[in-house]
Amino acid sequence: MSHVIAKRLLTWFDQATLQATARPMPWREIRDPYRVLLSEFMLQQTQVTTVIPYYEKFLKVWPTIVDLAGADEQTVLKAWEGLGYYSRARNLLATARLIVERHQGIIPATEPDLLQLKGIGDYTAGAIRSIAFNLPAPAVDGNVVRVAARLTCTAWDPTDIKQRREVKTYIASILPGDRPGDFNEALMDLGATVCLPKTPRCGECPLASVCQAQLSNTVPLFPAKKPKKAAPIEQRTCLIFRCGPMIHVNRRPEKGLLAGLFEFDWAV
Ligand code: ADE
Repeated sequence: MSHVIAKRLLTWFDQATLQATARPMPWREIRDPYRVLLSEFMLQQTQVTTVIPYYEKFLKVWPTIVDLAGADEQTVLKAWEGLGYYSRARNLLATARLIVERHQGIIPATEPDLLQLKGIGDYTAGAIRSIAFNLPAPAVDGNVVRVAARLTCTAWDPTDIKQRREVKTYIASILPGDRPGDFNEALMDLGATVCLPKTPRCGECPLASVCQAQLSNTVPLFPAKKPKKAAPIEQRTCLIFRCGPMIHVNRRPEKGLLAGLFEFDWAV
């Protein structure tokens, strides 16, 4: 028996799909583990609409994980250009190579195996296991913490790792065994389109009548927030050395801020 929350959420998700009001997402058309893995890497810090053309380009150039594993890093980084957070591209390639070396090119389905790969944390492992393999694994990101915090009126903070674990346990307790991937994606969609951080659309929410925050008129109080630290501002002086049509650039170190990207010479 599914939990009432799962039932309502999946009914809402199915209606959106049937009425074609769902956000178009090509990776939802074929539940192939490589497509799921590729899309999850791209979606880690980037919105759905931005990801779509990159996802399609990668699939065209590298239709399988084995093809991707054989690519050289500069070509992959070039194809990733514009998507940002380039460590994801490096991790994706490293993961493809590890899957070929350790798993004969077959994407593993267990949590420990997935967590051993590069760029796969708790959330991505849960998303891959549930969406690609239909396994009952929660996938908890900041959006899901917000939805869960409101549903239960709990002061969970999305940035707190320990509290994320509590949310994971809560989500696991309502996750339907028969459609875990659809449930996780429905939660993501609810967080992205209805249960919004600043302007939640509670009037359109399929869970409004079971949402503790909505019932107690406290939706804006959730999720709990830690006071933000101001982002450090760094000043640099750029030196641009030109020689005819050429400009001198350097590659940044493999780790840290803007890892591996090209930059002009600069001084502090
Ligand atoms: N964000 C991360 N994974 C996603 C997915 N499978 N669908 C929609 N948004 C996502």
